[in-house]
Amino acid sequence: MSIDAKDINFEELGFGYMDLPYRWRAYWKDGQWYKEGLEESNMIPVSEASTAFHYGQNIFEGMKAYRGQDDQIRLFRPDENAKRLNASARRLIMPEYPEEKFIEAVKETVKANADFVPPYGSGATLYIRPFMIGTGDNIGVGPAPEYIFSVFVMPVGPYFKGGFGTSKFVTSEYDRAAPHGTGAAKVAGNYGASLKPGKDAKSEGYADVVYLDPATHTKIEEAGSANFFVIERDGHKFVTPASPSILPSITKKSILYLAENRLGLPVEEGDIFIDDLGRYEEAGAMGTAAVISPIGSITHQGEEHKFDYSDQPGPLTTALYKELTGIQYGDKEAPEGWVVMVD
Ligand code: PLP
Ligand code: COI
Repeated sequence: MSIDAKDINFEELGFGYMDLPYRWRAYWKDGQWYKEGLEESNMIPVSEASTAFHYGQNIFEGMKAYRGQDDQIRLFRPDENAKRLNASARRLIMPEYPEEKFIEAVKETVKANADFVPPYGSGATLYIRPFMIGTGDNIGVGPAPEYIFSVFVMPVGPYFKGGFGTSKFVTSEYDRAAPHGTGAAKVAGNYGASLKPGKDAKSEGYADVVYLDPATHTKIEEAGSANFFVIERDGHKFVTPASPSILPSITKKSILYLAENRLGLPVEEGDIFIDDLGRYEEAGAMGTAAVISPIGSITHQGEEHKFDYSDQPGPLTTALYKELTGIQYGDKEAPEGWVVMVD
């Protein structure tokens, strides 16, 4: 049963699923997409032999719709999500969903559920989850004969408890991805691998895991659900890891641009060694769900390293947060093509 928008207190939302009235579905067979449009049921009947159940042919995206002061609904760089979905599809030998169709599917799903796009100033947004699964009858290890692409949405609040307050993170002995595995693709298997380390971290009171590079375990890679950054004390350089096994975050790509071009900071994609955190004054996680979440400390092998700004967000993390969210809500001028109106 889908829910009524009037029953939602948008200010109080966490990050949880809601069954909204409409979702986009598209079906693929014999080399083409067919039956594309909005559907009402949140259930998907598929064969028990679907590769999504057995062999991990399961990719997804995460994006948001933002309601501005003018009441208009905006998307943030949806073309980038379309491109990344198709990169993930190629990695798992799944069909691509064309970029223009992807953007139309997202717009149509948001429009159909427009009552659920949270009001400006509520701190909540409409989270958008496009995904694709391998379906049809198949039992040998190989790509599926059929696929379903879908987009569903729900209003959400902050991903990490405390929103824009500082959180404690912890490293893990586990890896979320292998050195030449699927870390750079948004595939469900990476998240399956992160469930246990994530749960262990949360049960010990940490917000999430900071993963180390799977080959040497000496360099920071990213968090379980967001990319990672630090601000170097010397020169206020913005540094974020460069690695072939992390997800190429659209938020990261945007913040690299904003740090350099709007805040005038030096920026680098490079190595951040876990044994050398003393040189950094601020740290944070960045992603669609996480937005920019300041990291106050990282515990590694039982020792907690506190950044200079461990109890409250640092000034540059705060400035980046304001710049990014200002653009997303339409309060600040966006670089060409970053903001796409839904109507
Ligand atoms: N890294 C991981 C593992 C993620 O799940 C996400 C979320 O999508 C990100 C990074 C951030 O990517 P983006 O900024 O494109 O949302
Ligand atoms: C996102 O930020 O969109 C994510 O996919 C992170 C997480 C909810 C899996």
